[in-house]
Amino acid sequence: MSEAARGRLVVATHNKGKLREMAELLAPHGFDCVSAGELGLPEPEETGATFIANAELKARAAARGSGHRALADDSGLIVEALGGKPGIHSARWADPTGGPAAGGGRDFRRAMERVNRELDANPDRRAYFISVLSLAWPDGGVKSFEGRVHGTLVWPPRGDRGFGYDPMFMPSGYNQTFGEMDPDLKHRISHRAVAFRKLADAGFR
Ligand code: IMP
Repeated sequence: MSEAARGRLVVATHNKGKLREMAELLAPHGFDCVSAGELGLPEPEETGATFIANAELKARAAARGSGHRALADDSGLIVEALGGKPGIHSARWADPTGGPAAGGGRDFRRAMERVNRELDANPDRRAYFISVLSLAWPDGGVKSFEGRVHGTLVWPPRGDRGFGYDPMFMPSGYNQTFGEMDPDLKHRISHRAVAFRKLADAGFR
């Protein structure tokens, strides 16, 4: 498909790590991509109680604000032995104030330490990442696609590639954490890649 043949798509994220991954996933699909940040769109407050509610809220806000289709991701780490925490609060656990990060800089070393501390001596180190991708249209229509990648949590964290909780997450079947792994491989097997394949299989409709 020729460059931009599918038209403009707003990537509704202000997170640089996610933006980079989504831009790479979208690159072969012929969209003219622009981020919500570049358009100066405000970042809506994530008031939803679920990943899907938050992804849809972000996609809808960007589609309405820009007049173009918009794609948003809401994602996080689910630790089985912590009853699903940090879950939808994954980004918040990296916030030094413990509340919504008002541009105060997120500290994922701190967030990973909290996960490790709460697990304490628990031998159950199973966890998964989840990503919900929502595609919204300016008329209010929205479709959502979910992906997961299962793995275990290691300590101490390993590797400085990737972002967020990557250095403590080792996907099942591999002996490297997402923080150590070649980004091309992470992008093929990640929760976001799984959700993205479903979105692409649906023809971005
Ligand atoms: P939100 O979707 O912006 O609410 O935040 C999701 C948070 O989940 C990120 O800030 C990271 O902490 C975490 N997260 C999501 N996807 C990944 C990933 O691929 N690697 C590491 N951390 C992730």
